[in-house]
Amino acid sequence: THVRIMLTTTAPGKLILCGEHAVVYGRPALAVPVWGVQATVEIAAAPTIDTGITFDAPDLGERWTLHNQPTHPLSVLTQFTLEHLGMTAGNFAVRLRSTIPVASGMGSGAALGAALARAIAAWYDRPLDAATVSALVYEGERLYHGTPSGIDNTVVSWGQPVWFERTATGPLITPLQIGQAFTLVVGDTGVRCPTKITVGEVRAGWQRDPMRYEALFDEIGTIGGAVRRHLAQGEIAAIGPLLDRNHALLDALGVNVPPLQRLVEAARGAGAWGAKLAGGGGGGVMFALVAPSLAALVQAALVQAGAVQVLVTVVPRSL
Ligand code: MEV
Repeated sequence: THVRIMLTTTAPGKLILCGEHAVVYGRPALAVPVWGVQATVEIAAAPTIDTGITFDAPDLGERWTLHNQPTHPLSVLTQFTLEHLGMTAGNFAVRLRSTIPVASGMGSGAALGAALARAIAAWYDRPLDAATVSALVYEGERLYHGTPSGIDNTVVSWGQPVWFERTATGPLITPLQIGQAFTLVVGDTGVRCPTKITVGEVRAGWQRDPMRYEALFDEIGTIGGAVRRHLAQGEIAAIGPLLDRNHALLDALGVNVPPLQRLVEAARGAGAWGAKLAGGGGGGVMFALVAPSLAALVQAALVQAGAVQVLVTVVPRSL
């Protein structure tokens, strides 16, 4: 028999290229992993044989145990994962780190969850496939976020660009074909807004005026199809105006805010092909699609316009 001393797993941040919010209502959305920011989970043996499961998340400023905080979202996910593995208890110390900005639309919660489920399974030498990790994280998120579409857990668990559609029989997940690598510059407003807030606001708007919201969702869904075709053909610049239009539609849904609008306009002014908010909105991040030679200029423009953090990421051509 062997004793594990420690193990580490990671999961990436994510960006939704187009289709957020509309994806909750059955329209397609496209998302890519962002490996420049990551959640990391370390598991080590507990100091004594009866410690149980302890959690330490220094970036969140939180420490807790499964026993004293069983309803913490990451405790619940731990329980789901243990049950999936057929275990009733554990005796290990979990340390969670993340460089993904929290409540910013980059999937920090889903990434921590994916890394955690993977780490627990690996601890028992029972590695899980991406679909199982994604399903466990989704079950956990559902308890806290009401009506998540499932796109966040999907893209961070698969770790590759995806086309995602919620259907009556479950999620339809297709790897995105990318004919040409492309460069995104991500700007963080520093304004934090949990996804469930804007998802709730959109739901209230949809209940007040379903015809108007369904029409907005339809146009967002059509944009998704067009972006998919251009990506496959490697026609990157042609995607810019579609991103701009998606941003305008998100503004019409009521999830755009002035700090996001300032960054979007600054990126366009610096020559980006297109720019939009990404994720739930109400704050959080935006991104610009840029020619690689313009990345530094757009980055500087975003800092000038108030971004608290700027990140350049390249999405590679698919094989
Ligand atoms: C959040 O990253 C994406 C939203 O569409 C919500 C969801 O899909 O669950 C706003």
